[in-house]
Amino acid sequence: MRKGGNNLTRLRDDTVPKGRVTVVTGGASGLGAATARLLRDHGAQVVVLDADTAAIKAMTGEPGLHAMQADVTDAARIEALFARIEADMGPVSALVCCAGIAMPGSVVRGGQPMPLAEFRRVIDVNLLGTLNCIRCAVPQMINHRHEADAEAGVIVVTASIAAQDGQVGQAAYAASKGGVAGMVLPLARELGDQGIRVMGIAPGVFSTPMTEELPERSREIVFSAVPPFPKRAGNATEFADLVHAILCNPMLNGDTIRLDGGLRMPARL
Ligand SMILES: NC(=O)c1ccc[n+]([C@@H]2O[C@H](COP(=O)([O-])OP(=O)(O)OC[C@H]3O[C@@H](n4cnc5c(N)ncnc54)[C@H](O)[C@@H]3O)[C@@H](O)[C@H]2O)c1
Repeated sequence: MRKGGNNLTRLRDDTVPKGRVTVVTGGASGLGAATARLLRDHGAQVVVLDADTAAIKAMTGEPGLHAMQADVTDAARIEALFARIEADMGPVSALVCCAGIAMPGSVVRGGQPMPLAEFRRVIDVNLLGTLNCIRCAVPQMINHRHEADAEAGVIVVTASIAAQDGQVGQAAYAASKGGVAGMVLPLARELGDQGIRVMGIAPGVFSTPMTEELPERSREIVFSAVPPFPKRAGNATEFADLVHAILCNPMLNGDTIRLDGGLRMPARL
């Protein structure tokens, strides 16, 4: 192992996201939108990918953001979009995966099995959708590495504290987020030789359209869980700040950080 660098200023200059082509999935709402805007404000060239056509349209024309409509589960569409981004803007060197859905629901309802398609949809969007974007971003990061020792890219994925503290009705969501968190270390190990870092964030309860627009009962359950401190839901900007810190700090790799004010969700209320 080489000794650590002794020129801190140079290290920080090399790692800030200035000018980086950065893709934020699910970037038209909530945690993703706050992240896209913060990274844009720090000088990154930000591409927002989101399935929500109306939200993408509303973002189009916002300075410094390139808004593109796409469903992260669509293999061919995501391949084509990443190729277009590379051709138009240059290779992607940071990917932040925020696209996700919650869809709470019991596995057995009124004595009947839940529709399997519901469970599959959550896994498709949250887990396979994340991997679909990672597999398209990585070759661009690898091919455009400047020098042997340089950082080629950073990937930040969004898990959830539900991966560890999944509540009643969250089997699908917790399984999908457990899968996301589970990919982080093996991907960091696989891609380390190519200069790519992989990190996860497991948010607690954040105030975003995902949580605010849950069915009434689920919303009550989610917001009644109060962290030790601060005793409130997180703000999307606090998530964005952590993404920025991860992009800037080259020693963060291969782990998922809980961002939850110390919250541990009970099994049920
Ligand atoms: N808000 C919370 O409390 C919380 C807690 C833990 C984890 N998370 C995770 O954080 C991420 C962001 O959540 P949020 O709270 O900002 O939710 P949000 O609903 O505000 O934003 C999610 C975005 O993802 C997009 N999206 C959904 N399916 C998509 C698909 N198939 N392809 C492309 N885009 C798609 C939506 O259109 C939306 O714009 C999600 O992965 C969520 O599971 C959120």
